[in-house]
Amino acid sequence: MHIAVVGSGYVGLVTGACLSDFGMDVTCVDKDEKKIAMLQRGEVPIYEPGLDGLIAKNAKAGRLRFTTNVAEAVERALAIFIAVGTPPREDGSADLSYVIEVAETIAAHLNGYKVVVTKSTVPIGTGQLIEQIIREKSGGRFPFSVVSNPEFLREGSAIEDFMRPDRVVIGARDPQAIAIMKDIYAPLYLIETPFVITNVESAELIKYASNAFLATKITFINEVAILCEKLGADVHHVAKGMGLDRRIGPKFLHPGPGYGGSCFPKDTRALTDIARQAGYRFGIVETVVEVNEKIKARMVDKIRTACGGSVSGLTVGVLGLAFKPETDDMRESPAIPIVTALVKEGARVRAFDPAAMDNAKEVLPATVEYCQDAYDAATGAHCLVIITEWNQFRSLDLERLKGLLARPLVVDLRNVYEPDKMREAGFAYECVGRAAANLPKA
Ligand code: UDX
Repeated sequence: MHIAVVGSGYVGLVTGACLSDFGMDVTCVDKDEKKIAMLQRGEVPIYEPGLDGLIAKNAKAGRLRFTTNVAEAVERALAIFIAVGTPPREDGSADLSYVIEVAETIAAHLNGYKVVVTKSTVPIGTGQLIEQIIREKSGGRFPFSVVSNPEFLREGSAIEDFMRPDRVVIGARDPQAIAIMKDIYAPLYLIETPFVITNVESAELIKYASNAFLATKITFINEVAILCEKLGADVHHVAKGMGLDRRIGPKFLHPGPGYGGSCFPKDTRALTDIARQAGYRFGIVETVVEVNEKIKARMVDKIRTACGGSVSGLTVGVLGLAFKPETDDMRESPAIPIVTALVKEGARVRAFDPAAMDNAKEVLPATVEYCQDAYDAATGAHCLVIITEWNQFRSLDLERLKGLLARPLVVDLRNVYEPDKMREAGFAYECVGRAAANLPKA
């Protein structure tokens, strides 16, 4: 089966590479000539573990190719996946202009029955809009179906998430389109992946509702962590005790400096906007968006307090800038407001991240100094702040660190270290939601 994937960004490339690995004949399209030229040379423009190998393997096998020629790719394909960006507008709503442009192009090059699949996260009702655009612009010359097939990929484990998903969601109206989608995902039947077959609107909402629920879960534990600090409880013990209830589940109960990334902030804001447009104020998600901002600001208070009330004139070492480990992605990273506030309050910031420093330079204040490694960032610092839990920060040589720091103070916003051990090792140590003393092991 011939497949076209329009939009060779993060979602498009992972989708294209994985579908070609399923044995499909895939053409990835993008209007960015530089990007396509890179991909044709075998270079992958984004950082995602395993993606370069998968692209190389399937390109070599002749199942995966890259082009800027959308017309040819559309004409050739039976299924066309739309995976272009839906960036947030000023007011938080999703900007659909790229999706609309693709729908118009598909309409112009329709030459037979096609399944048009949205992979991009699009507001509820977009499937209908695409259908209307294609119908009007193609003058009803050929039949086609519109399908919503949202992705649930996490950066850093996107390939694994695509190949072994918890579920595949297919929103469609007609049986022919559902049958084609099932064919495309046939390898997942072998591993007994559950399929949720529903209408387009439900599929579109599943994506937003899932991301908003996860963001709520994280925000909930972040607020529990605040209570723990005030009441002498330990958030790890509380999360474990909660998570063992199978109705709650243990995942996404890790406290930290607030959620970030390309999905949760955008999708929570978009969902509140979608709800308002539908005449409903989605109170819980609006509050989550608000509280997440407060959590990030609270991290600055924590650092300032640990430093004795002010960071002015102090050197702060920062470990980790990406919104989470195993990515170079700085989008909505909590490091942005935290580092910006520290600089504004007069701190000299020396930072290190294993992958995100190039991207960080674009969004952090110009005075931030970028270091060789964790020890370099710690050198001469009055306070060392861990913002992203990269594995390499989990087993630092504490004696060496103490020797390098101007003052043995660590503020660990991801609870990478054990408070007792850090204090025993001679550090003043602050973390999130673990104020309890003399705890037995969880
Ligand atoms: C997320 C969803 O998981 C994925 O299904 C969706 O398709 C896109 O958005 P991603 O943005 O890659 O994926 O990151 P994820 O691993 O889910 O983490 C999101 C944010 O939540 C990060 O900032 C992370 O640090 C934070 N987080 C996650 C916590 O603070 N605590 C947790 O327990 C889990």
